Amino acid sequence: MKIPFSPPYIDDDVIREVTDSLRSGWITTGPKVKALEEEIADFICCPQAIAVNSWTSGAILSLKWFGLKAGDEVIVPAYTYCATAMAVMDCGATPVMVDINEDLTIDVEEVERAITNKTKAILPVDLAGQPCDYNKLRQIINKPEIQKLFNPENEIQKTLNRILLISDSAHSIGAKANGKNVAELVDIAVLSLHAVKNITSAEGGVICLNLPKQFNNESLKKWFKMMSLNGQTKDAFTKSQAGSWRYDIVEQGMKINMPDVNAAIALSQLQKYNYLLQERKRVYDRYRSFLQKYDWSILPYQNKDNTKQASYHLFPLRIKGISEKQRNEIINFMAEKEIATNVHYIPMPLLTLFKNKGYDINNYPKSFAVYKQEISLPLYPQLTNEEIDFVLENLVLAYESVINKL
Ligand SMILES: Cc1ncc(COP(=O)(O)O)c(C=O)c1O
Repeated sequence: MKIPFSPPYIDDDVIREVTDSLRSGWITTGPKVKALEEEIADFICCPQAIAVNSWTSGAILSLKWFGLKAGDEVIVPAYTYCATAMAVMDCGATPVMVDINEDLTIDVEEVERAITNKTKAILPVDLAGQPCDYNKLRQIINKPEIQKLFNPENEIQKTLNRILLISDSAHSIGAKANGKNVAELVDIAVLSLHAVKNITSAEGGVICLNLPKQFNNESLKKWFKMMSLNGQTKDAFTKSQAGSWRYDIVEQGMKINMPDVNAAIALSQLQKYNYLLQERKRVYDRYRSFLQKYDWSILPYQNKDNTKQASYHLFPLRIKGISEKQRNEIINFMAEKEIATNVHYIPMPLLTLFKNKGYDINNYPKSFAVYKQEISLPLYPQLTNEEIDFVLENLVLAYESVINKL
């Protein structure tokens, strides 16, 4: 039995929607993207959504909108995919890394301690699809003494007059806290529609705007759309209509628009979101109920009072008492059985780029402790119960073989 880690969910409906785009005579940004943006905004209850070609480009554009520049700081967790920090660096600013909680999301007390008069934004990550503690983060940024520290340097920052809360919601489409979608709890949420994500467009991202009432989210969407297409006043679809050739370039934008042919995949998957979530939960629950029998397993955090509803993006299992080397051996044992597992994540301070910039893993003990014992098990709707049991059976064999080597 061969078990891949996270194959995309491609059924006949997805193929039909993509074929429809291919046959329509229009394959780049156009009606499918428009429909996807409207459906996502509706689904996660945010005023406006803008589809782009990745989470990374969406985050860069959002931070550029806020005027992020060299000398500014953005607080991020050390335990995430590198893109979280690299989006900040792409704007010339400095990511300030802090450690995580037991649920693998950013430690809000550490966030508060890390705020300085250079802090322009907080960029927490809904790791594995678990929403961060946004209520506490909001309380922090609204504290008078924290607001006083904020140093607005442009009209947008003056209008907000506090730190921007922008979430890395690459994993958490559809996740909720206290009945609210993540995008309702932050100023901007950026989703990823990368191939391994719960909803995918092969590559893609969505900027979800929920800025407070002093901003006009509708006109901001127009600005983001224009900036995602080189700062061009007319989108390609409109410009392609007979006689509609003239355009202007009014700002230095980026070329990060999502093509219709990609949007078609996500559009079709989104219509089945509830089914896909239910199937992810089936896999997740089957792993949990089996693994709770083993005292060596540290199961993914589950919110006890049900105030949080995760999107079941990953199953980040931890194995008590093992070394990093033993974790790697378990992964290799599983790989020999053709079961692909993964590690989410190598903390950023362990990666060469960040090490060379002076980030030191010793400052992030919780991230390192999680990393060295973490193994993400395959989790996707297509996984059958028989396949799940095969993964579990081999995980137990792998653990026993590695431990008995001692
Ligand atoms: C937590 C997190 N942030 C950001 C990204 C970057 O997403 P994209 O590949 O869409 O730029 C990913 C993708 O793997 C991710 O897992």
